[in-house]
Amino acid sequence: MDKTSSSKRNILITSALPYASGSLHLGHFVEHSQSDIWARMLRSQGHEVKFLCADDAHGTPIMLNAEKQGLTPEAMVDAIREEHWRDLQAFGVSYDHYHSTHSQENQELVSEVYLKLKAAGHIESKIVEQYFDPEREMFLPDRFVKGTCPKCDTPGQYSDGCESCGSTYDSTEIKNPVSVVSGTTPVMKESKHLFVNLKNFEPMLKEWVASGSLQEEVTNKLAEWFEAGLQSWDISRDAPYFGFQIPEEDNKYFYVWMDAPVGYLACLKYVCEQNGENFGPWIDPDTDHEMYHFIGKDILYFHSLFWPAMLHGANMKLPNAVYVHGFLTVNGTKMSKSRGTFIKASTYLEHLNPDYLRYYFAAKLSDGLVDIDLNMEDFRQRVNSDLVGKVVNIASRCAGFVKKKFNSTLSESLHNQALYDEFLSHSGAIAQLFEARKYNAAIRQIMALADKANQYIADMAPWVAIKDEARLGEVHQVCSTGINLFRVLMNWLAPVIPFTASKAEDFLNVKLDDWYAINKPLLGHTINKFKPLIRRIESETLDKIIEQSKQDLAATQATLEQPKSNGQLEADPIGDEIDFDTFAKVDLRVAKIIDAQHVEKADKLLQLTLDLGGETRHVFAGIKSAYQPEDLVGKHTVMVANLAPRKMRLGVSEGMVLAAGPGGDELYILEPHVGAQPGMRVK
Ligand code: MSP
Ligand code: ZN
Repeated sequence: MDKTSSSKRNILITSALPYASGSLHLGHFVEHSQSDIWARMLRSQGHEVKFLCADDAHGTPIMLNAEKQGLTPEAMVDAIREEHWRDLQAFGVSYDHYHSTHSQENQELVSEVYLKLKAAGHIESKIVEQYFDPEREMFLPDRFVKGTCPKCDTPGQYSDGCESCGSTYDSTEIKNPVSVVSGTTPVMKESKHLFVNLKNFEPMLKEWVASGSLQEEVTNKLAEWFEAGLQSWDISRDAPYFGFQIPEEDNKYFYVWMDAPVGYLACLKYVCEQNGENFGPWIDPDTDHEMYHFIGKDILYFHSLFWPAMLHGANMKLPNAVYVHGFLTVNGTKMSKSRGTFIKASTYLEHLNPDYLRYYFAAKLSDGLVDIDLNMEDFRQRVNSDLVGKVVNIASRCAGFVKKKFNSTLSESLHNQALYDEFLSHSGAIAQLFEARKYNAAIRQIMALADKANQYIADMAPWVAIKDEARLGEVHQVCSTGINLFRVLMNWLAPVIPFTASKAEDFLNVKLDDWYAINKPLLGHTINKFKPLIRRIESETLDKIIEQSKQDLAATQATLEQPKSNGQLEADPIGDEIDFDTFAKVDLRVAKIIDAQHVEKADKLLQLTLDLGGETRHVFAGIKSAYQPEDLVGKHTVMVANLAPRKMRLGVSEGMVLAAGPGGDELYILEPHVGAQPGMRVK
């Protein structure tokens, strides 16, 4: 393939917009890695790529979460957007811009889309009966009502389904309903809602599906939904709601899922305006501009039915494809906070190079919807053996000779041009595999070639030949061939491991951002000093990440936890087995609570002053929902006395008090039997 033969395309690529609630975790990075690799690939082939994302800022959970933190929703989503963007950049995700759905462009665009749908007769209104919190004067989404399961009588279940017996039911069927927001008993109340009549779009959607650009599993899923019959889609919410007001209505707001996908285009519009470019062609159905959305399987319905319907109804271009990936599991199971496998992106980044994870995900990602597992031990071995042991090894075996013996200059011709040409002959196929999102297959090919390069160097053994003056010319050519093969491999891997690629650029003294540049080998070219490009992953580092993630949990549980529309309550399994020595390291002591205070701006935390028998400690404990401070003073409890001090948002916590509970607000501090004195060791 050569550059002139492939014409330049205009390509919009998006990732799903993360909710502006809570931190990004490694699960999110399956998607950001997948889309970023794709975007970087296509850019390196010379296409005009707009790679965009934003925070999804609206909705009831975000509104209530802000309130809990004593912030306006605007202030909270701004702060979270900044945090998300910082993590994404640190992971090397190369969005051209990271926007927010709470923006003026988005408000204008969603209103425009809505008014076009309305003018075309696609909007209808219906009276809906829904739970209403009389104290807070607000309607309650399903996840904000809890009660007793009508089938198995388990208390504490959400109103849309029971986690104990697995049955789903209508929210009106739940027994003893309670508002999660205020704790009062909700009443049923009527309100007018606006709906998009999805049935109107069925023929268009079927045609879109038949165009063949969707994954097979996605096509099958859609066939099921068509079979079941398309329901009208409720797009309005009543005040109070953090979102945009619906034009020509009285105090109605767009449901978050209405303005979220429009946010893709609002972000694009913003970028076009900033760059002085034309936004029009991107949404014009008659241009050949392309649009692709990367999403997880949990949000397929929104992207394969609602979103194309909205676009079509507003006379806009349909997506060329929606690319759906599976979910991340860690060590074979769902990410779990108690096991420390719910790993925040920022925690990972404190310890490891993002390229490791980007590489591992790429080595596992296919074009299907299957879940991908991050097995910690496999991760370590794979990265160490492939990136360190194979790819970088090629350069490190050759670089020293070129520097010392040949003035850091590569030879004028290669020792094995045929091998170089063989490598090149794979370039087209590898590009195609990447574009088809078969990253795992692309990586397999690249690593097979890395093996070949290593074998070649082993066969040539320049470290032996160098001892023979007469063979110096050969050594020069062999090492130059090795370095050229390394460059080809790195050019292919650059979209996957951009940080390592950038270091390789420094070493090779050449850019690695043009897919076709490798058509010409580097001859007579000066290179720079080789510095180790990447280090091995140590088991201890992974242990630290897991340990810290368990602690992150303790810190965040106290402040940020909130129900999520697609979230699930976690079972609390017994933790992994530890040996006695590990246990013995935990120094548990009896402590007397000598003071307990409310903490400003933290609705779950109390600050406790503890007497440890001569020593005083200050700790934050997430037990405010269960205790009045004055009831705690004078009580004895048990604390972890040798826990490293943790910096929390509000101050330093010097240890941890032990409490039991199923999660949520139900908590019981541990109390020793009468007679135990402060400072006594718990054995
Ligand atoms: N805000 C919506 C998307 C709106 S798009 C117009 C949303 N946000 S999310 O934060 O919950 O998820 C963002 C993306 O991350 C989704 O594509 C979701 O599938 C993906 N993932 C979230 N957790 C994930 C894993 N554990 N594994 C893989 N992807 C995951 O949905
Ligand atoms: Zn039940």
